[in-house]
Amino acid sequence: MSADLRNRVEQYLSAAFLDREIPSRLSSAMRYSLLAGGKRLRPVLCLSVARACAGERAEELTDAILSFAAGLEMIHTYSLIHDDLPAMDDDDLRRGRPTCHKAFDEATAILAGDALLTDAFGHMLRAAVPADRLLEAVRLTAKASGAQGMAGGQMLDLEGEGKKLSLEELRILNAKKTGALITNACECGALLAGATPQQRYAARCYGSELGIAFQITDDILDVVGDEATVGKEVRHDAESDKATWPSLLGLEKAREQAHLHCNAAEKALEGILHGPDADFLRETARNLVNRTH
Ligand code: IPE
Ligand code: IPE
Ligand code: MG
Ligand code: MG
Ligand code: MG
Repeated sequence: MSADLRNRVEQYLSAAFLDREIPSRLSSAMRYSLLAGGKRLRPVLCLSVARACAGERAEELTDAILSFAAGLEMIHTYSLIHDDLPAMDDDDLRRGRPTCHKAFDEATAILAGDALLTDAFGHMLRAAVPADRLLEAVRLTAKASGAQGMAGGQMLDLEGEGKKLSLEELRILNAKKTGALITNACECGALLAGATPQQRYAARCYGSELGIAFQITDDILDVVGDEATVGKEVRHDAESDKATWPSLLGLEKAREQAHLHCNAAEKALEGILHGPDADFLRETARNLVNRTH
């Protein structure tokens, strides 16, 4: 099912930002980064949670909220473009190709990020669900992306360079910079599906555990991965003296932590979400620690 959902997200994204009113250099930069073959984890999580909560309305709901899920990927892609800028992580490779500011220039990359973030909200608001649910999901997404969420986490990440953080501080940093968008994708899936409070809570817990585990494995891949498979520069975190899980705990303990958080993610769904889409969510948590990109 996930391959099908990923294709649907891909199709939606490939039709976006073709409008002739967009200056062509800007739309080229936006589409260059957006259509470079990311894993589409956040939109697929959102759609899978929604389907798992929707029962027999799953197909109908997928069509209704596809634009919302695609908007989440636009926000994520913006965060990557800005994360790679020389003033931030200063990376030259992303999704297997030169970063946006390398392929275009810094000013264009900044604007491509600005436009992806802003237009994402326009796309999310196209979802065909009751207005109260949609407003709440948009409000949550703004919070998860902004100062209290991803952008705040990026600030902590930059401030953490060269510092030895405590485990608790590192967990907070990761919960914000990476966990917030992943948790939000899961919670919004439940919310848009009209899930029960219990299902919504389970989706939120699943997402926050998965989000931490996801960043731990990202940090591990920077140490042990190879550039061609990961699709981005490796051994860069140590060079920038980033606060990461392997640097704080060593590789083995970092792997243990990833396992613990993945198990907790699986457990969060126990007895609450059922069916093939819930099975996919469980498999995602189970397989996360073995990812290679
Ligand atoms: C990379 O995210 C940045 C982090 C939050 C760790 P992904 O690993 O989901 O990147 P893509 O979307 O597949 O390129
Ligand atoms: C970035 O974390 C998280 C974002 C909010 C984009 P990283 O800086 O570790 O992500 P990568 O390794 O560059 O993808
Ligand atoms: Mg970074
Ligand atoms: Mg980075
Ligand atoms: Mg990283």
